[in-house]
Amino acid sequence: MSSPTETPISVTRTRSPAQRPADNTLAFGKVFTDHMFMMDYTEGKGWHDPRVVPYGPLTLDPATSVLHYGQAIFDGLKAYRGEGGKIRLFRAQRHAERLNKSARALCMPELDADLVRRSFEAIVGVDHEWVPSTPGTSLYIRPTIIATDVMLGVHPSHSYTYFVICSPVGAYYKEGVKPVRILASDNHVRAVKGGLGEAKTAANYAASLSGQAEAERAGYTQVLWLDGVERKWIDEVGTMNIMMQIGDEVITPPLAGTILDGVTRNSILQLLRDWGHKVSERKISIDEVMEAGRNGTLKEMWGTGTAAVVSPVGELGYKGENIKIGNGQTGALTQKLYDAIIGIQYGHSNDPHGWTSEV
Ligand code: COI
Repeated sequence: MSSPTETPISVTRTRSPAQRPADNTLAFGKVFTDHMFMMDYTEGKGWHDPRVVPYGPLTLDPATSVLHYGQAIFDGLKAYRGEGGKIRLFRAQRHAERLNKSARALCMPELDADLVRRSFEAIVGVDHEWVPSTPGTSLYIRPTIIATDVMLGVHPSHSYTYFVICSPVGAYYKEGVKPVRILASDNHVRAVKGGLGEAKTAANYAASLSGQAEAERAGYTQVLWLDGVERKWIDEVGTMNIMMQIGDEVITPPLAGTILDGVTRNSILQLLRDWGHKVSERKISIDEVMEAGRNGTLKEMWGTGTAAVVSPVGELGYKGENIKIGNGQTGALTQKLYDAIIGIQYGHSNDPHGWTSEV
C-alpha cells in the first residue's frame, strides 16, 4: 500500500468552467471554484480514493447521519496570490493538524496530516486561476468531513466523506477592515468546558445563531461570547478570537477548552512576543473590560481569524452600556498587526517562522 505522502490523487477536470468573478465584486463565500477535492472513509479500508473532481452537489440519502446528528467538522485556511504572482498557503500544516483535533472531538477517524496538506495543494493547483490578486482578496479553502452512514441510531458513523471546496473572497465583514461593533451576550451561551467549544464543528455555529441574530438586531456586527457557566469571562467573538490592550498588557482568553485554537490567534501572539510586547493568555471578565473602557485604560481591541484576519473592534456593548474603543478608530497596534500578517501572507515581508508554503 502506498504511504499517504505518495498516494496518487486523481484529477477529473470540468468540461464547463465557470465565469470567474472580478476581484472587486468579491464578498465572502458566495462563489465557488470549478473543482473540489474528495476522499472517502470506509471502516476496514480507511481513507481512500483521493480525487479532484468538478465542483457539484453531493447526493445524500435523507437518513444520512450528518443531517440528523450533526457529526460534521470543517476548517478554513487561505491561499494568497502575492509577491511575484506566486500562490502561498498560510500555515497549511497547522490547519491540517487542527482538522484532526476536531475529528478526535467528534469521534471521527483522523486523516494523515500530510495527505490533508496535499489535498489543499492539489485543489489550489487545479483551480489556481481562481486565486484573486487584488490586495485584500484571497482564495478561502474549506476542508470538511461529514458522517455518511445511513441510519437513525445515535452513534459515531462508520463511513465519512472528506471534501475541500474553495471560494475566492474579499473581506468577511461588510465594514471591510474598518472597526466593527460587538455585543457581549448575556442571554445566550456558545460552549461549556467538556463540550465541543474548541472543535471546529457545525454544532458550535448552530449554537451561535440566535446570539448572533440578537446582536445583529441590536445593530452590532458580531456577538461576544461569555463563558457558559458564570456568564462572566470573555470567550470569543462569533467568527474570531478576541484580543485587547489594557494599559501596556495585551490580553486574550486562554485555550481552556471552550474557544477555538485559532491559527491567526497563534500567529498574532507570536508576532507580539517577537516584538517584545507583554502578552497574557489569561481569564478576563467582562466587568474588567468595561471598567477599563470607562477609565480609559482599554486602548485597543481586535479580533483574529482566518476569515476576519485582524479586525479592529470600535465599540463594545454590554447590558445596555456602550464603550467606544480608541474613539471607534483602528488602533496603531491593530493596524501594525494587520499589516504584518498580511505582509507575510502575501509574501511581501520576511516569513521568519516559515508559515507560508508555495503551491
Ligand atoms: C474562519 O475564519 O475560517 C472561520 O471559519 C470563520 C467563519 C467564516 C465560520
